[in-house]
Amino acid sequence: MNNKIVIITGSPRRRGNCSRLAASFEKRLNELGCETAVYNACSFSACDWSGSGAYFNDADRSDDSEAYLELLKKDIGEAHGVVLAVPVYVYGMPAQVLAMLDKIASAVKSGEISGRKRCALISCCAQKKISVFNGIKFTYEHVVKALGWENSGELLLTSLWKRSDADKHGAADEAYAFADKFAAQDAEEKKMPVDTEGPVNGGLTVSSLINDTLPSWLFE
Ligand SMILES: Cc1cc2nc3c(=O)[nH]c(=O)nc-3n(C[C@H](O)[C@H](O)[C@H](O)COP(=O)(O)O)c2cc1C
Repeated sequence: MNNKIVIITGSPRRRGNCSRLAASFEKRLNELGCETAVYNACSFSACDWSGSGAYFNDADRSDDSEAYLELLKKDIGEAHGVVLAVPVYVYGMPAQVLAMLDKIASAVKSGEISGRKRCALISCCAQKKISVFNGIKFTYEHVVKALGWENSGELLLTSLWKRSDADKHGAADEAYAFADKFAAQDAEEKKMPVDTEGPVNGGLTVSSLINDTLPSWLFE
């Protein structure tokens, strides 16, 4: 295990808000001496299931997402942390991100990826209400818990609609500052502060939606 942090962006929009937030977050991590590896879930086809060989010759697949996925899994295996930078799409995560999480969960279950990872969520949406993030928070928090990883914080930014809004409204600066908090936090010892229904921007984390005490579904 080293100080590598894997950042997974999840928007099909090039140079969009998530890319800008992730770049700002990464810049600060690099300044702090962390190694980073950035992947875009949208380079990974949500439809690229290994079972597709039942329908057509595997060699005929039109993308190289399998090689991309192998690299991602190797990097996560070595990494200390995993950070998602994903937009709200229809009150949840984009399908490509869910597909990538499916693959990561399988790799954890099979033992291909092991070890506890510190995680964070960076997300943005166009609307102004914090409840718009409920779907993404629910998925993120439950997946992290199911994998046996640790949630070290969430940066949820509302009112970002157009492609470069993250730069215009100071959100990229929020992501930069969030990297400081992420790097400084010792996830073993610190408890997450609980946010309220107030302004979303700048919070390290907001209250968890997890209210069950069941063990992970993944290992049952
Ligand atoms: C297909 C699609 C669905 C979206 N769904 C929502 C939504 O449910 N709520 C919301 O507030 N914003 C929604 N948005 C807006 C995006 O969350 C917002 O534009 C965000 O900044 C996009 O990030 P990006 O630039 O990294 O792609 C949606 C955008 C798209 C393209």
